[in-house]
Amino acid sequence: MKAIAKQTVRDVNLKDAIVLMRVDYNVPLEGGIITSDFRIKASLPTLRYLLDHGVSKIILISHLGRPNGREEQYSLRPIAEELAGLLPGVAVNFVDQVSGPEVEAAVEELPEGGILLLENLRFYPGEQANQQDFAQSIVDSTHASLFVQDGFAVLHRANASTDAITKLLPTVAGLLVEREIDTLTQVLDAPEHPLVVVIGGAKVEDKMPMVAAFFDRADKILVGGKIAADGYTNANPKVYVATDFDEDESGNKLDIGPISMIEFIKNCETAKTIVWSGVLGKIEDAAYATSSTILAKFIGEHPEITSIICGGDTSGFVENLVKEDPNLHYSLISTGGTAALALITRQEMPGINNLNDK
Ligand code: 3PG
Repeated sequence: MKAIAKQTVRDVNLKDAIVLMRVDYNVPLEGGIITSDFRIKASLPTLRYLLDHGVSKIILISHLGRPNGREEQYSLRPIAEELAGLLPGVAVNFVDQVSGPEVEAAVEELPEGGILLLENLRFYPGEQANQQDFAQSIVDSTHASLFVQDGFAVLHRANASTDAITKLLPTVAGLLVEREIDTLTQVLDAPEHPLVVVIGGAKVEDKMPMVAAFFDRADKILVGGKIAADGYTNANPKVYVATDFDEDESGNKLDIGPISMIEFIKNCETAKTIVWSGVLGKIEDAAYATSSTILAKFIGEHPEITSIICGGDTSGFVENLVKEDPNLHYSLISTGGTAALALITRQEMPGINNLNDK
């Protein structure tokens, strides 16, 4: 890892280890169907590396969505099925707990070279409360001897799976975390100006402070998505907030409108670097995916602009457009949303701080 002097899977002996690995399988789902497997595919290089280097077993942990306790629609079970399809010949099992006798039995039954995905960490309050005994129960039940952090998109959170657990096991970065940090830092250490930042998405509370975090670095900050629809305002002249919206019959503002779109594109036309995090409308509904599609195509058709696409939904959306039209070009499609923005604006990242130093 060039950007930060932290250990990665390349720096440790993996032979015969039971590896506990944090991934970010927080993928977009619609009626139980995975609409983008981008984040699942992004974990494959590390999984293959571990298997090629003779680990005994891999136990995967992740969150999905923001459930309130155990909510079946946020179970990771469908992700295990998807992962199994991407790794033919590898046993991929699932257990609907994260600790306890059922997990111990599932680890025991897992064949050598197999992968076991545990249930959604956020079904348990200990994850977001960063509880040490919660982390301990996972380590005890899995008998892991090494922790691999590969959940780039969650590194800005101080959760049990990014913080408490690292006090219990040697902790190294996976290849995705290494690549994301390396590329994002390189591209944005000295970005070519004008740098235009586009912020949208549904995570209003997370994104609001990000607008201010870019005041010093960006030349223009364009705000769309739910933040704009909810009435976000900012007096800073660098900030443009969408002013018109496409609405449903009940008056819900579900996409930014044509006047704002013209303003967004006008600014992007002058950009040498664009960072885009958060879709501009409710993309699950094709009728409200118009502005996000226009923006994604504009950026993808201008390869001379350095472009960074961030976030599970935005990156998945753009990846799906690339599948339809492989001529679309983006410099980097990151798995991280808020995490990528936090890294670019140099905020504290507990998940990175907790990696073993080289
Ligand atoms: C993301 O999608 O940005 C990450 O998975 C983190 O999810 P969170 O914002 O619910 O913590």
